[in-house]
Amino acid sequence: MSEKLAISRRQLLTGAAAVAVGTTLATTPATASTVNNAVLPKAPRPQDVKKTLVTDLEVLSATTTSLTFSWGTFERPHTDHLFPGDRVASDAEVWLTPVNSGKPLKCVHRSKSDTGFHFITITGLKPDTEYRFSCRSFGREAEPGFWFTQVFNEPEVTGTVRTLARPKGRYIQTVAISNDLHIGKEGDSVGKTHWASVMVAAMLSEVKRRGLTRIYANGDLCDHGKYEEAKELRRVCSKFGDYQKDYFLVRGNHDAYDMEKPTSPDPFQKVFPKHKLQTMWVTQDKKLRVIGIDSSWPGTDGGRITDAQFKELEKVLLSDPNKPTLVMAHHPVTEHAARTNGGQRPFILNRKDSMRLQQLFQKAPGVFFMAAGHTHRAHRDAADLPGGPQYAQFCATSPYPGGFTLMDIYEGGYTVTFHRTAMGQALQQTAMNRYAMGYGFYGEYTISRMRDRAFTVLRDMSALR
Ligand SMILES: [Fe+2]
Repeated sequence: MSEKLAISRRQLLTGAAAVAVGTTLATTPATASTVNNAVLPKAPRPQDVKKTLVTDLEVLSATTTSLTFSWGTFERPHTDHLFPGDRVASDAEVWLTPVNSGKPLKCVHRSKSDTGFHFITITGLKPDTEYRFSCRSFGREAEPGFWFTQVFNEPEVTGTVRTLARPKGRYIQTVAISNDLHIGKEGDSVGKTHWASVMVAAMLSEVKRRGLTRIYANGDLCDHGKYEEAKELRRVCSKFGDYQKDYFLVRGNHDAYDMEKPTSPDPFQKVFPKHKLQTMWVTQDKKLRVIGIDSSWPGTDGGRITDAQFKELEKVLLSDPNKPTLVMAHHPVTEHAARTNGGQRPFILNRKDSMRLQQLFQKAPGVFFMAAGHTHRAHRDAADLPGGPQYAQFCATSPYPGGFTLMDIYEGGYTVTFHRTAMGQALQQTAMNRYAMGYGFYGEYTISRMRDRAFTVLRDMSALR
C-alpha cells in the first residue's frame, strides 16, 4: 500500500492536481472564478489528445447564485478507483443555459490549466433555476468517475443542476462549520508540511477570505488524540484567532484515542483546558445561540452523553427554549443516520441517548439544527420524533472530500452548502486523497449526494434579525 502511495504521489506531483487558471472569457450573466495554480507543478502536454481521458467530473456545490464544477485530464484511460496515470495540461470550458430558456448551451467560461485539474465556480446565476451544463476539455465532455456520481438523478448523470432557492427576507448571517480535521493522520503529503495541517490551515484561510471571523470545528480534531497533535492544532488555529472566541472546538472520538479510560490523563485537555471530557459549551453568535456537546468517550468510536451533561444541556435550553439555537456534536443522532452509515448504530450516538436528546429538543423548539461529523460525508437525517430540528452530517475537512460547510441564514430560512477548500495545495492533496484512501472506495462513500451537500430549509428565522 505504501509503495503504491509513493508511486501515485510522484505521479500526482508531476502530473498533478491543482486548478484551472488562465484567460476567462467575459460572459453575461455568469462570471467564473478559478484558483491560481502558479505554485503547483506543471503537467506535460498530451502526446495524443485522442487517447486522453477527461474524467472525475464532480458538481460539488450549488449555492443560490453559483455552481462549482471539478474535473481532470489524464494521459491515458484508467479505472475509476486505481491510481491514475499522469495528468496532462488541458483547456477547460463550462457551457451553461437555463433549462426552461429554450436557448442552446453557451460557453460561460474558458481557461487553461497547466496541471490538468480544473476547479471552476460559475457565479452570478439566478436562484432556484435549473441549468443544463457541459464541462469540456479537448472539446470532449468531462465524464463522472465515482460510481456515486453516476447514479440516480445526480447532476453528473442528468447534465442538469439547480441553484438553491433563496429564503425570503433579508440576509442575516453566515455560520462556518468544519469537522474531521484529523491533525496527524497517516497518509502521503503533497508538500513538506503534514497534509492534514495543510488542509486545516487552508480551510481556515479560505473561511477568513470569505470575511468570516468565526469557525466551529465539530470533532475528530486530532487523529490519535496525542498531546503533540493537539499542540499542532492549536498552532494552526491560532493563526485564525483565539481559542473559544474565534475558533470553537467540539471533541470527537479520535480526540480521546490516547486515553484508556475517562479518568486517564487527557492530552487534549492539557492543550485545550476548557475541553474536559463530556463538557458542553454555549456561545452567542450575534443573536444565534450555538451549543457544542461532547459525545466522545475513551475506548469507543460510538457516542454517548453523560447524565451530568444532559442536565447541563437541559438547564441551558430550558432557560430560553424558543431562542434560535444551533447544536453540534460529533456523532450523528437519529435512526435514519444509524441505518444509512457504514457502521450502523454502534458507530453513532447510542439509541438511549439519541432518544433522550430528541425528547429534550421537543421541549426547546428554538433548536432548529443539529450538525454532526464523524462519517466524513454529507447526509440529511430524518428525525425520529416530530417537531425536532433538521439533523445532518457534514463532509470532512482534511480527508476527502476536503472542505467546510456554510450555513447562510436569512429571515425566511437558511441554506447549507459544502465547499471544497479551493486553495492550490489543498486541492492538490484532495485530488490525491480521492485515489489514495481505500482505492477510491472511501471516496465513493464520502462524495455524498448533491441534495445532501447543498440544500435550503424554509423556516422563520426573523428572531435573529
Ligand atoms: Fe473522523
